[in-house]
Amino acid sequence: MLKVENVTKIYKKNSSLFQKEEDFVALNNISFELEKDKVLSVIGESGSGKTTLAKIICSLLPFDDGIVKINGKNILDYKKQELSNTVQMIFQNPYASFNPKLTIGYSLHEAVDEGIKNKKDFINEKLALVDMKEDDIFDKYPHQFSGGQRQRIAIARALLKNPKILIADEPFASLDVINQSLIMDIFYKIKKEQKTNIIFITHDISAAFKISDKILILQNGNMVKYGNIEEIKSDKTNGYINELINATYLME
Ligand SMILES: Nc1ncnc2c1ncn2[C@@H]1O[C@H](COP(=O)(O)OP(=O)(O)OP(=O)(O)O)[C@@H](O)[C@H]1O
Ligand SMILES: [Mg+2]
Repeated sequence: MLKVENVTKIYKKNSSLFQKEEDFVALNNISFELEKDKVLSVIGESGSGKTTLAKIICSLLPFDDGIVKINGKNILDYKKQELSNTVQMIFQNPYASFNPKLTIGYSLHEAVDEGIKNKKDFINEKLALVDMKEDDIFDKYPHQFSGGQRQRIAIARALLKNPKILIADEPFASLDVINQSLIMDIFYKIKKEQKTNIIFITHDISAAFKISDKILILQNGNMVKYGNIEEIKSDKTNGYINELINATYLME
């Protein structure tokens, strides 16, 4: 399905106007696979390279070394439209995901491909999946929804493309516990009902244990571990994994 091989990403950083540009390795030789009908979680603390990796897979960011393939085809060989029908990303900040000047109805209609016959029914089907059924959704503007509602609409919009891969970048950020569990249930539903493979990005390892088949752990752009849940849980020798597990137990 998705194969990431030895991907390296370097950002150019200049700390002040007069200093030379310096290389900053945001991802160092990252390799993993997303198998069909599976959920992969990418875990790591702030700055570990999670969003960078997500943007590379969506072709929103160039990278310096390695290969990313979806269904055997290099993502650099995909046409823009073809890739957007294949991978969709839900962004970390639900406030920035919609154009504030457009109604939600307009933004949703715009996301539907021309080939779809009854656009409104198609949109309503995806909205029902994320439990957004109220009649007046279409005429409202983004600011008239709560953060949790906006996040759910962003998920529905991503599903309008029937993507083979859905990347959710910290979908719980800035949501309260009730909304977090609502969104979690929606991902269970998507996993079960839609033919969509999910990449779930989070710093919460306990959430990742609940939903994923495989887990990739990043630290400062390096792969700490990649494996199934049992392999991660049983790796007692890894201090960083223990830290992540202990941190979530403290929060619960
Ligand atoms: N455009 C950029 N130019 C230079 N450095 C960048 C750029 N974008 C990100 N970085 C750096 O790359 C590193 C990884 O950033 P990234 O956003 O991928 O982390 P993250 O794991 O998503 O963090 P968070 O959990 O806070 O969202 C960070 O140190 C960040 O400062
Ligand atoms: Mg991020």
